Amino acid sequence: MDRKEYYRKLGWSKSPFIKSTSMDTPILKREQEYNTIGECIGGWDRIMVVTAPIGYGKTTFMNTLVKNKPPEVDYVVFFDSYEPVEEVMDRIKMKLPVWKRVFSKDIDRTLFGEFLHKKLGSKKMLLLFDEAQDYENDLFKWLRILNDRVDNLFMLFLGLKGLEDKITAESSFRDRKTKSITLTSFSIDDLQKIVTQRIRWVGGRGISPFTENGLKRLCETANNVPRRLMENGQKVVEECAVSGLFSIDENIVEEVIGTYAGEDVRLTPISEEREIEVPEDIESKSTDYKSYDLMSELSPMQREIVNLLREKESLSITELSSMLKKDIRSIGSLIRKLRGLNPEEVGRKPNIQYPVVVRKGKETRMGRIQYVYGLSDNTRRLLAR
Ligand SMILES: Nc1ncnc2c1ncn2[C@@H]1O[C@H](COP(=O)(O)OP(=O)(O)OP(=O)(O)O)[C@@H](O)[C@H]1O
Ligand SMILES: [Mg+2]
Repeated sequence: MDRKEYYRKLGWSKSPFIKSTSMDTPILKREQEYNTIGECIGGWDRIMVVTAPIGYGKTTFMNTLVKNKPPEVDYVVFFDSYEPVEEVMDRIKMKLPVWKRVFSKDIDRTLFGEFLHKKLGSKKMLLLFDEAQDYENDLFKWLRILNDRVDNLFMLFLGLKGLEDKITAESSFRDRKTKSITLTSFSIDDLQKIVTQRIRWVGGRGISPFTENGLKRLCETANNVPRRLMENGQKVVEECAVSGLFSIDENIVEEVIGTYAGEDVRLTPISEEREIEVPEDIESKSTDYKSYDLMSELSPMQREIVNLLREKESLSITELSSMLKKDIRSIGSLIRKLRGLNPEEVGRKPNIQYPVVVRKGKETRMGRIQYVYGLSDNTRRLLAR
């Protein structure tokens, strides 16, 4: 199904997983960190540093400070990325009321501190600097001087780990008191709230098309990183759009996401399906079943899977689904049946010696680490006859 059509059927105006830090995107408030900033300002900590890994929500957090000025702060000026000193001065000036800006044209970088100190009076100004790990030292040096000259000026630097060393390094804020704040990582619950908020934001209902476990699984794959949550969510939704799936459970999430080669993300299954051990005596028993025709017991699609696995040592569910042009969910369910993990199926087909198919381990297939499946030894022996 066309992606647009899929979204329409779900009542979505767009994907809830678009990566966006625009101001209208719903966000989960980081109350704790927000309050800490307020406390720092109240306690006169004038230099603050917020660090967190990539995609954790630094920019988003900065935006909340712009949208909701911390208490006692009168002006907030923010910088998305490095700007030269002249630009920083201009942006600060523009924030001041017009009547405070007159005669400010000739103020150069050396006089700017005094100028700002006078103009601010008893008002407080907060400067926010995102991506601060990439700043030129020249700007840091100038900001340090500014910090010394302007009493009511507060600065918050946001960036990746290592930023702190840079800020406290020689020639910048060395002996100035800095307050460091780390963004706490989101819990699975938090991430679920984020998805739910976003589904509502695009016009969807509840957590549809996710099942409760499907959503939980998706959030687990994010490894606490909201950006990864968006990426994985988008992947899942796109795959499900193709096969027109309107109920996304944990198995589907797992099959689509797998784990990515070369990354430290590991999927830790909620409840690892237990391999069913083949009792010892099945082998000797199977030799007695001369008339046992496995293939005739299987459904046509199961037969195709078994045939493909006769040729290949092992295949992943994604590979099988692309070879058979079937959606991953139905292949996943057939594989579970062939593994003897579906009690109803096992009850229905008492002649089949399970497992027909077994999990062979994890391998990189189609660019990501996936579980791969193959025929059980017993099945191979039976089919060889
Ligand atoms: N508090 C939050 N509530 C909802 N979504 C969030 C929140 N924080 C981050 N996100 C989402 O996670 C994604 C990444 O967030 P953001 O860009 O703020 O991270 P970052 O730490 O600035 O990343 P980078 O290190 O690349 O600059 C965004 O799409 C954003 O919408
Ligand atoms: Mg950012």
